[in-house]
Amino acid sequence: MPIHHSALLRALLAIFMLPFFCLAKDFRTSSGWPATRSQGYKSQGYKSQGYKSQGYKAQPRQSQVSGTDAKLRAVLQANGVEAIDTPAQDPKHAALGNLLFFDRIICGNNDTACATCHHPLTSTSDTLSLGVGTGSPNINEVGIFRVMGEEREFVPRNSPDIFNRGSVHWTSMFWDSRVSTAGGVATSPAGAALPSELVKPLQIQAMFPPTSRDEMRGSHEDVFNGNDVAAFADDDFTGIWGALSARVMDNDIYRSMFLDAFPEVPEADLGFQHVAIALAAFETEAFGMDDSPFDEFLRGNTQAMSPAAKRGALLFYGKAGCVDCHSGTLLTDQLHHNLAVPQIGPGKNPLTGLDHGRMGITADPADEFAFRTPPLRNVAATGPWMHNGAFSSLEDVIEHHLDPKKSLRNYRARWQLIQPDLIPTVVNGRTMQDWMLDTAEVVDVDLSRKEKSDLIEFLHSLTAPDLAARLQALIPAAVPSGMLENGLGE
Ligand code: HEC
Ligand code: HEC
Repeated sequence: MPIHHSALLRALLAIFMLPFFCLAKDFRTSSGWPATRSQGYKSQGYKSQGYKSQGYKAQPRQSQVSGTDAKLRAVLQANGVEAIDTPAQDPKHAALGNLLFFDRIICGNNDTACATCHHPLTSTSDTLSLGVGTGSPNINEVGIFRVMGEEREFVPRNSPDIFNRGSVHWTSMFWDSRVSTAGGVATSPAGAALPSELVKPLQIQAMFPPTSRDEMRGSHEDVFNGNDVAAFADDDFTGIWGALSARVMDNDIYRSMFLDAFPEVPEADLGFQHVAIALAAFETEAFGMDDSPFDEFLRGNTQAMSPAAKRGALLFYGKAGCVDCHSGTLLTDQLHHNLAVPQIGPGKNPLTGLDHGRMGITADPADEFAFRTPPLRNVAATGPWMHNGAFSSLEDVIEHHLDPKKSLRNYRARWQLIQPDLIPTVVNGRTMQDWMLDTAEVVDVDLSRKEKSDLIEFLHSLTAPDLAARLQALIPAAVPSGMLENGLGE
């Protein structure tokens, strides 16, 4: 009876596909991923998902909620969590940094800017699991529309959001903290070559993207296309920085802006460290989003969070144990943990083709596959998540934390990765899984469906209001070199 068969088949197919549609929907709404090209990044509806519309006032049981409020305030205080700060910046530095952040002048091949992978249109990340750096054929696209060039390689890690990285609480940068200012000592891949003017981790960080061949500097072959910056040896940081700052200071507009912004520095001493100081000032000010409902609650506005978000917060700081790592004002301990996240992409170690995380820096086996706990403000807008973008829904991120073994065994790259080229790069055989699980940290707790959804409501309450519109306003109309990365494909 073929009719019955096909009906059964369709019913089965519908049941099978259901989670996929839910997942796709979640990723699109929570990460601001545009459903179609024409819909575009501009129409991301953060407002409509926003917390304001969830109407705390509409909740009838005020007395019950105020008990929750008192409890939550006590828990937050006990954990030393405060509203996030945005330190004031020198306006001339920040104005210069705004131009430099969007200018492809500091890229060896003049085809990539900081904004390429940290674009305001994509919530200061790029909506990709692994980013596409220099050598792309369509250079003014961001996100999925930016195609990998021939003979190029994916950037081995997920481009993180860069919200609130100028907060005074930060002591580390990158997924493996290879830049750090812990204990008042600046550590970086450049060692003694790091200019001494740089004191803040965010300033030090800005020295490195232009030195990375995949991200901004270019390959050995690019030298033959007139890329002088690609010619230096990988460890010749002073040479690379010198060539880059010469490009910037040769531009009349930039030179006069730098002389004006750094009056105490003689012209001959202006270097790439001043570019980095300007970039960090801009990032601190522009991406310092300090008014999420959670931050407003922390400042005393009890109405700012919805009841579900408050219940989620109590779980986060209680039964669910999230605070064990996502602690303090930044919601990160800035330490490294192995969560057994699937291996994706080219990896960081050329011998194994894997990313060993913090162990790549310390060579300590205790740091194998450990990555720095990410901060969580605006996290609902910055998917896909984890150090390599392995997951495309917050639900799956939480499921993975709760039961990494089950999550790894059932990992389906085709459901999670929107970049088809990455699917064959996933290393997730049984041996690999067991290797990672051996030292993985598991949040060993059972949560009900309702509790998980409350946790996710809490994560949404970390999103600043009108985020998309506020970010979009940061894109300059033009940059001094004429090489503006506006991300609009124009
Ligand atoms: C091709 C993509 C790409 C470009 C271009 C790029 N970045 Fe990044 N950025 C990344 C990736 C990937 C990481 C994480 C790398 C890691 O942890 O090993 C990162 C990390 C960072 C961090 C650290 C955030 C944290 O939480 O530790 C900051 C800040 C940052 N980038 C700023 C910049 C600035 C400023 C520029 C321009 C000078 C820039 N990026 C250019 C992809 C990019
Ligand atoms: C043992 C420490 C630890 C605990 C406990 C923990 N996390 Fe995490 N979390 C991490 C680390 C480390 C990562 C990044 C792992 C990686 O990429 O390899 C992460 C990633 C995340 C991310 C993705 C963020 C991003 O930008 O990619 C979210 C969301 C998150 N955690 C939420 C939670 C929630 C909710 C809980 C409580 C149920 C929790 N975490 C408990 C350490 C922890």
